[in-house]
Amino acid sequence: MTMASDVAMVEEVLEKGCLQRDDLVRLLAAGEEESRAIFRRAAAVKKGCVGNKAYFRGLIEYSNRCVKNCLYCGIRSGNANFTRYEMTEAETLHAARFAWESRYASIVLQAGERTDEAFAAKIEDLIRKIQEETRGELHITLSLGEQSPETYERWRRAGAHRYLLRIEVSNPALYGRLHPGDGRHSHAERLRALGDLRRLGYQVGTGVMIGLPFQTVEDLADDLLFFRDYDIDMVGMGPYIEHPDTPLYRHRGDIPPLGERFQLSLRMVALLRIMMKDINIAATTAMQAIDPMGREKALRAGANVLMPNLTPVKYRSDYLLYENKPCIHEEAEACKFCLESRILSVGDVIAYGEWGDSRHYAERNGVGAN
Ligand code: 5AD
Ligand code: SF4
Ligand code: FES
Repeated sequence: MTMASDVAMVEEVLEKGCLQRDDLVRLLAAGEEESRAIFRRAAAVKKGCVGNKAYFRGLIEYSNRCVKNCLYCGIRSGNANFTRYEMTEAETLHAARFAWESRYASIVLQAGERTDEAFAAKIEDLIRKIQEETRGELHITLSLGEQSPETYERWRRAGAHRYLLRIEVSNPALYGRLHPGDGRHSHAERLRALGDLRRLGYQVGTGVMIGLPFQTVEDLADDLLFFRDYDIDMVGMGPYIEHPDTPLYRHRGDIPPLGERFQLSLRMVALLRIMMKDINIAATTAMQAIDPMGREKALRAGANVLMPNLTPVKYRSDYLLYENKPCIHEEAEACKFCLESRILSVGDVIAYGEWGDSRHYAERNGVGAN
């Protein structure tokens, strides 16, 4: 049982202007009552700093081909138990047009990692065509992994605005345990890529997985400090969910149960909102994979971005990074209505037709937020 004094102590810690590592460790390990105090505080900060607007980013899972072999991911190159696909140009443009016509204002083009020239050229061409088709009104976010500075620059010049590259875990030693030592997976390289993206003028988003084997509460506190020190504009983070066709699955007994991973993820979202008041934080699909009300709960805990899925249904069951991924049978239209009602149910409004650049980014760059 939690003592009322514990809640008072949590409230006192939350009053502090700047949360330290010890504070974060303590808050991340909070029980139910104390967590409610954290969520209350995060909701108040959200209301005061970013308001009750939720931004839509239409997610296009362009291809599941990937040259990497991350030990946790269902579409790793070493998994042969599903069909690899690449959406056609017509399908991709159709999805982008759907987003534009639905006044989503923004899309995320996501795929497994590929660094060959044909891929770089194809993406460049798609960015230009999407811009043309939507009269430059659609903001384009890329989530295509680590690339050379030249490729990032090429895509930026073609018209991409934002880039999502999760650091996955900020602790380099832990990163080493979650990725094969084949020379293709380097924490330092990932940091280098994040730096390149920032330098090239992208609005940069990153994120982590929560509840991984070997991960400690201290690691998660450091992840939050990483976002703050890095002065990041957007964060997408969610629970790690085991996938049977991955090497990490054998450690499924060593991690907290799903419910705990979910609560821990909610506390991460809430604490980040308290620490970084004006950034964009996604209510991620992985939250929904654990709890049917996952994304709504994340919105209440401080998130303000949602990613309705625009991938054609015929491909969705081949883009399973983890188990129980939601929406695999729902076409774009169904997800749109579903998410709309979910957002309204928590008292937020959907910011149709607004790019929704984070105020943080806008202020750092001396321009007014859209
Ligand atoms: N559980 C949760 N998230 C995962 N991702 C990859 N595999 C898993 C998993 N098993 C996340 C990674 C990646 C993003 C696209 O999906 O953080 O960056
Ligand atoms: Fe590829 Fe990303 Fe999955 Fe790693 S997490 S195997 S880079 S799709
Ligand atoms: Fe896809 Fe609810 S968001 S079905």
